[in-house]
Amino acid sequence: MALFAIPTHVVFGTEALSQAGAYMKKFGNRALVVTGPHVARSPMVCELKKALEKEEIAYMVFDGITGEPTDEMIRQGLEAYKKSHSRFIIGIGGGSPLDAAKAIALMSVQEKDTEIAVFMGEPIYCQVPKIVAIPTTSGTGSEATKFTVITNTKTDVKMLLAGDCLIPDLAVINYEYTMDMPKSVTASTGLDALTHAIESYTSRKASELTDVYAISAVKRIMRYLPIVYNNGNDGVAREQMALAAFEAGVCINNASVTLVHGMSRPIGAIFHVSHGTSNAMLLGECLSFAMDGACERFANLGRACGYAEEGEDDMAAAEKFVAAVREVIKTCEIPTISEYGIDVKAFAKAIPKMAEDAMASGSPGNTRKTICKEDCERIYHKLIS
Ligand SMILES: [Fe+2]
Repeated sequence: MALFAIPTHVVFGTEALSQAGAYMKKFGNRALVVTGPHVARSPMVCELKKALEKEEIAYMVFDGITGEPTDEMIRQGLEAYKKSHSRFIIGIGGGSPLDAAKAIALMSVQEKDTEIAVFMGEPIYCQVPKIVAIPTTSGTGSEATKFTVITNTKTDVKMLLAGDCLIPDLAVINYEYTMDMPKSVTASTGLDALTHAIESYTSRKASELTDVYAISAVKRIMRYLPIVYNNGNDGVAREQMALAAFEAGVCINNASVTLVHGMSRPIGAIFHVSHGTSNAMLLGECLSFAMDGACERFANLGRACGYAEEGEDDMAAAEKFVAAVREVIKTCEIPTISEYGIDVKAFAKAIPKMAEDAMASGSPGNTRKTICKEDCERIYHKLIS
């Protein structure tokens, strides 16, 4: 049996926000808008304010999400939520404000002085205020998932919190909001979405339903990411990437991630590399390692994308797919560990701990190949050799 969960409503297209007003009206007459200082001054937030005003929904803008969200930012957001007497929460921006909106919703129904850290690794069951997610990047898929990642500032651990109650009630997706993404963000978020789609398709938890979304997302991203990286004004490519990021988010929500995400989080935590970039640094090596454990699946992706013929041998088709992924990573000019400015000796020294943390996260265990700590260590070493 496979459980399959997605947002209750998804409004997609250039008129998405105006159409979303009627749904938001049902969520209450006061909203907290959670975002970062840059997006807060953008035309997107102006449009959101107008949509809320049209529906006579009062709002307060909390623009305190200045980077990947921390427990401290969530505390401040919670204060704003309570002070504004809001009834529901709207996250607008990249993955960080969307994750923050979910965490504020969660904390708004807890007893006073509850620490968000208590939810780490625990199944979350509670009724939270309605959550609206409006992405302005095409990558994290947070608009489609039950996950939120919040940094614990006391321990410096990125806490993964998960619960079906955190799946947004409404996702509003307008590719025009992604047009201003800088090249490097287009690359890292696009490759994050690609990683989601490939990992979920080759995950032990994949199901027939997630396969449909995963194949579709991989096809779109392999075709359109190189195009949009080279020309950020290509509206067709931006639209395809926005669709793919949502599809890939649905995939990880239901089939989880595998080796790349498991190994990526420790790089992010220790060397402060953004999530999409650290995934992209690992993607080629991890796929080459995982390929023979799920040869048929990688071959299917190769055939679906047109890199291999229908009757072609699985191993050859799988190799062609992984080679094509490496080519896209190259096109997106993803830096190596040393090009990123990380001290190679410090990276080498951190490898045993990173490998241990990666294994402890559980994600590598979803890969269709038995993986041990030493395998992770070997892959980390390849990144600096
Ligand atoms: Fe990701």
